[in-house]
Amino acid sequence: MCGIVGYIGTQKASPILINGLLRLEYRGYDSAGIGVLENGAISVMKDKGRVNNLYNIDGINDLSGTIGIAHTRWATHGVPSKENAHPHKDNSGEFAVVHNGIIENYNDLRKFLTDKGYNFYSQTDTEVIPNLVHYYYHQDEKDDEQRLLRAVNNACKDLKGSYAIELISKEHPDMMIVVRKDSPLVIGKGYKENYISSDIPAILSFTKDFYLIDDNEIAVLTRENVEFYNDNLEKVDKKLESIEWSATAAEKDGYEDYMLKEIYEQPNAIRETIGSRLPEDGPCYFEDLDFSKEYLSSINKIYIVACGTAMHAGLVGKNMLEKLCKINTEVDIASEFRYRDPIINEKTLCLFISQSGETADTIAALKLAKSKGAKTLAISNVIGSSITREADYSIYTHAGPEIAVASTKAYTSQVVLIAILAIYFAEILESEHYAILKDLKQEVLSLPAKVENALKSNKRIQDFARKVYNEKDMFFLGRGVDQTVALEGSLKLKEISYIHSEAYAAGELKHGPIALVEKGITVVGILTDPKLVEKSISNIQEVITRGAKTFIITNQELPADKFDMIIKVPEVNPLLSPIVSVVPLQLFAYHISKEKGLDVDKPRNLAKSVTVE
Ligand code: AGP
Repeated sequence: MCGIVGYIGTQKASPILINGLLRLEYRGYDSAGIGVLENGAISVMKDKGRVNNLYNIDGINDLSGTIGIAHTRWATHGVPSKENAHPHKDNSGEFAVVHNGIIENYNDLRKFLTDKGYNFYSQTDTEVIPNLVHYYYHQDEKDDEQRLLRAVNNACKDLKGSYAIELISKEHPDMMIVVRKDSPLVIGKGYKENYISSDIPAILSFTKDFYLIDDNEIAVLTRENVEFYNDNLEKVDKKLESIEWSATAAEKDGYEDYMLKEIYEQPNAIRETIGSRLPEDGPCYFEDLDFSKEYLSSINKIYIVACGTAMHAGLVGKNMLEKLCKINTEVDIASEFRYRDPIINEKTLCLFISQSGETADTIAALKLAKSKGAKTLAISNVIGSSITREADYSIYTHAGPEIAVASTKAYTSQVVLIAILAIYFAEILESEHYAILKDLKQEVLSLPAKVENALKSNKRIQDFARKVYNEKDMFFLGRGVDQTVALEGSLKLKEISYIHSEAYAAGELKHGPIALVEKGITVVGILTDPKLVEKSISNIQEVITRGAKTFIITNQELPADKFDMIIKVPEVNPLLSPIVSVVPLQLFAYHISKEKGLDVDKPRNLAKSVTVE
């Protein structure tokens, strides 16, 4: 998704801007650009392709201005091209803007501005913004220091959709304006300098102090100050937040790729997720939750709503909530939930899971649930992210920054967090025997060591990946909770290796898809639930008979000669087994992608944070 960086200070802006963009590369983009204000003009330099291409633009190294804006674009309106790359200027060249999000009514605004004599030189929705600001700026007869702020605010009132906008003006060389609505943006505070970014890691090496700008707020940045206003232009007080992540926590730490680093970080990430939530003697504890027995008993349904991997974590969570709390739980894809008029009322509890906390569909689904009177609880990895600011309650996975597009440690820490949440609810509700919950808590505490153990199979998984990386199709099969892991394993494989794969409930195979099984195809079986292993083996036998190669993830003793490769993982309570059994599947997808020579961290067509619908 698009990324934004900005700088106003005393240093040369361009290297800071380009450096920031490089750190946002993981979000996915197709073009990049910067705009620097110097000598009474705004120099815009941009191009299609990688951020590093900017260094080839004539004159970029000579830019000496100390205020600038920058952007990586992921095309929504108009093809990836130099013309469509940001920044965009207004017709007179007075204002330059970078923008994340989508302006839904840009056609109407274009028409409005065209009728007023403005011209457009790109296919983007963004280009209306600097021209609207120009229009309102010159409509304003009062030439005081708030004129630019008023013009931006008036322009924003005309915009429908989502946006994070940075604007500079050659008439105001010591000022930058930023606005946010439904699109991420943070402001980093330094000494006599201020930074802007869509994401904290991009500017973490410059400062650890951040302001979190809320929806419909405008910030005016000078070198010394940051002032916040609401959309009535009344001043808003903001607290400076200190972020404890180190800049190096967002680096690769010697691993070849972020994804591999993040896979190996899982034992630690899980420890962080558990934190002090599972005290040795006493019930589960969440600092930010205060659910009563009365309220929890009144819930008639829990919805878990999320996208992609986060939704797969929700499927595992459903199982836990139903088994431990005896509350009917439904999992929904956020982009479906938001348009299908779900039955929700004040007796519904809605959980929204999002690593980034910025996924547009998940945020919209949350707003819908709130509007229908449900209580909302956000599960996120990013403190202060949009979803956590919208929800009634928020709890964090504390897994540390996840940079690779393919989510790994976020998944395992989300599942761990929902497990603790389900135990917490069950303790309050007294819906499950004390001894069972006590054992389960011990099992949760044992997870870091078990995941560590599962990582030891890396080499054998790599060996098997070398045998099958050229294949075109694969199947992932499992029953019960293993089927939810099959979905996640299949998604991981698709997104980073571009191999088509399908995940199926093992018992469903013979109702159609087995027709696709032929000699040479690889079938990945996840067989961890002792009650269902025999049944799943029978299904796997059916594909072996039809010539499939088999790759089995199990915690049971299985005959080695029956399958092409068995990866043994430690045994754990079946409710928690996805946290361990997913690890070999992550490594499998990783090694296949590496064998194919692909960009593991930045797969084609994908973005880390999907901030548009
Ligand atoms: C995971 O590997 C994917 N890249 C994707 O499915 C992701 O989980 C999804 O877009 C949701 O993101 P979120 O957790 O940040 O909301």
